[in-house]
Amino acid sequence: MSLDDRARQILRDNDAGGFTLPTKRLYPFQWNWDSAFAALGFATFDLDRAWTEIETLLEGQWSNGMVPHIIFRKEDPDYFPGPSVWQTGTEPPSSGISQPPVAASVVRRLLEQAGDASEPRARAAFGKLLAWHRWFHTQRDPDRLGVIAATHPWEAGRDNSPDWDEALSSVDTSGVGSYERRDTSHVDPSMRPTKQDYDRYLAILKFGVAVAWDPLRIYRNGPFLVADPGLTFILLRADRDLLWLADRLGEMAVAEEIASWVATAEAGADRLWSEDLGGYAALDLKTGQSAPALSSVAFLAFYAGLTDRAAALCENLKRFRARSSYAVASFDPGNSRFDAVRYWRGSVWAVINFLIGQGLADQGQIDLADMVRADTAHLIRGGGFAEYYDPVTGRGVGGQTFTWTAAVWLAWGLSDIESTQS
Ligand code: DGY
Repeated sequence: MSLDDRARQILRDNDAGGFTLPTKRLYPFQWNWDSAFAALGFATFDLDRAWTEIETLLEGQWSNGMVPHIIFRKEDPDYFPGPSVWQTGTEPPSSGISQPPVAASVVRRLLEQAGDASEPRARAAFGKLLAWHRWFHTQRDPDRLGVIAATHPWEAGRDNSPDWDEALSSVDTSGVGSYERRDTSHVDPSMRPTKQDYDRYLAILKFGVAVAWDPLRIYRNGPFLVADPGLTFILLRADRDLLWLADRLGEMAVAEEIASWVATAEAGADRLWSEDLGGYAALDLKTGQSAPALSSVAFLAFYAGLTDRAAALCENLKRFRARSSYAVASFDPGNSRFDAVRYWRGSVWAVINFLIGQGLADQGQIDLADMVRADTAHLIRGGGFAEYYDPVTGRGVGGQTFTWTAAVWLAWGLSDIESTQS
């Protein structure tokens, strides 16, 4: 079977009926950005199914505009923490935080691909995406700093990145109590966050329950508040794509509002710039402290359309690659906190590579874009459709038969890349 066929088969097998599981057992529900990437994969062979994925994702939208990070479509004892822990009281049941908003950029791509016939579906999605982006700008950046804060590491989508270590170290876990994790019975615990990290994730979650998921109380008084280059840059790109959609769909009444979000973020990104590191770093908004080293999301500046500091970023990207075998390690491979297999502490993620590669290509950094794309293809050829990859050995790690990796394979046309590594 060709890898294209295999990727299509993975998407179909993980299709749970209008929405796609990231992978069975480890993630048995609908996850927000996983679904958006799934739509891009489906769009290469079943455009109708691609739109349905976006529509089911947006069905989970809260009345305040937030699109939650997990939609719990059914009970499943294989996952912890489920809906009874989150206690959000929504229908469908969902978690109480969001996730990187890639969906508007996906909707733009679907509409560009499909043309006028898809306009009604794009229009229906547009109003919901607008409300979601507005929620991010007012509830995750209420002081208009121009940087988007994660109120939980899961909200940034990069669960146990070293970016959060300092902020997590002051989270009080004394009220967490006992619980049974399920993730470590599905994959090797050495690839998953530690018990200490999990306790902290649950303590932050419990704060959300205690304030009935009031987003501003979470922002102002919650135990964790870190401005994330990943969320900030993905939303900035998504806002530009939303503006494109507004223009295409004749929704000009809101164009000014969206343009103001773009301008605020373009200025606000400076807050994340670290002269010492030569890149954009996570910033703890409670203490004012920057992350100790760069994460791969720093390179999403290109994707966000920020080019002022291209030279320093390109140097760092080359350095990351020189210290591993494959681009792009999720955390600086030269830093002592780098860990090649423990989830987001250094491993390579095909979806992040896809966004970085797209941004580099958009900004004319063609050699680096080609390198990231080729490395991604080699990793998937060698390591299978894994959740993520060891940047040193190339081994596929975490969950297997993974939706978003299969989606990237198809959407980025990776079968074009020769199988021999350059
Ligand atoms: C998990 O359960 O590991 C997820 O990443 C939370 O979203």
